[in-house]
Amino acid sequence: MINELKKEIEKAKTCFLEDLNIIQSSKELIQIKDNYLSRKKGIVTEFMKQIKNLSAEDKPLAGKLINEFKVEVEKQLNLIHDRLSYGKKNEIDYSLPAFDIPVGSPHLLSIVRTALENIFLEMGYEITHGPEVETEYNNFTALNMQEGHPARNEQDTFFIKGYSDIILRTHTSPVQIRYMENHQPPIKIISPGKAFRKDEPDATHTPVFSQIEGLLVDKGIHFSHLKGTLELFIKSFFGQNVSLRFRPGYFPFTEPSAEVDISCYLCNGSNPECRICKGTGWLEILGSGMVHPRVLENCNIDPEKYSGFAFGMGIERIAMLKYGISDIRMFYDNDLRFLKQFG
Ligand code: DAH
Repeated sequence: MINELKKEIEKAKTCFLEDLNIIQSSKELIQIKDNYLSRKKGIVTEFMKQIKNLSAEDKPLAGKLINEFKVEVEKQLNLIHDRLSYGKKNEIDYSLPAFDIPVGSPHLLSIVRTALENIFLEMGYEITHGPEVETEYNNFTALNMQEGHPARNEQDTFFIKGYSDIILRTHTSPVQIRYMENHQPPIKIISPGKAFRKDEPDATHTPVFSQIEGLLVDKGIHFSHLKGTLELFIKSFFGQNVSLRFRPGYFPFTEPSAEVDISCYLCNGSNPECRICKGTGWLEILGSGMVHPRVLENCNIDPEKYSGFAFGMGIERIAMLKYGISDIRMFYDNDLRFLKQFG
């Protein structure tokens, strides 16, 4: 009797393997599972029913063989179940719309800063950086701004609580000092970066803004070098048709000093109602001058031997002029409708 049962189980195993091969869907899986494991009339159940006809000594062996078969059937069917459901989860529906992956782009201020940097890199300038948190000495005193100078007034400057001589730099000019303290001429640098002033935000002011500083020191440098450099720079950036105007100005760290205007690229002075130049025909663009001998001395550079020029400009202002932007706050509002126009 037990031998017959053994044969039947072996046969069932072979059939089962064949059945496994044809399963392609969960519907077929359920059918096969019922066929072997259904409580009422599954093949395994039929084997179990035969146990009661066996002799007492054969019963344990029969139970063991049937159980081994049952465990094997369950294991194989579970594997197939997993395989079928895995396939379902990873099925690709090619008719679905593609995911929208947003692609970022540089901010307009980065675009303009890079363009300015590239012009000066081509002229052989080196890019240097200084810290945004500065000493009063580097920001003011070494630049020939003695105590009591209006720019040192608390109104304009952010102080660091608890430190009377540490401030947020109000311009990028202290990088000149840092560089000259550590290098002897020839010096040819630009320094882009953030500056901070305690201004109420309005269409042309924000407490955080960006500047680019330029400095060239060498033997025999005079005002025409400054003029030629700025002319080359401004024509590269704004176009060959733009002309420059140098007006006498005052900065404590340059002597003489000049404010530089460009002719209005929109109306060239022809439209009294021009929205860019307000009818003046000129746009103020930067401050500049010949480095004050006292500033050179403060950095241990001999003003009898060397001379130089310097200039500084606001990057937001340059960007506003070039792109006709009327409110500086737009750079910082993070409104994608604005930013996306330039990326
Ligand atoms: N530091 C000046 C400012 O923030 C700008 C400036 C003017 C920089 C003249 C210079 C310069 O280097 O020579 O208003």
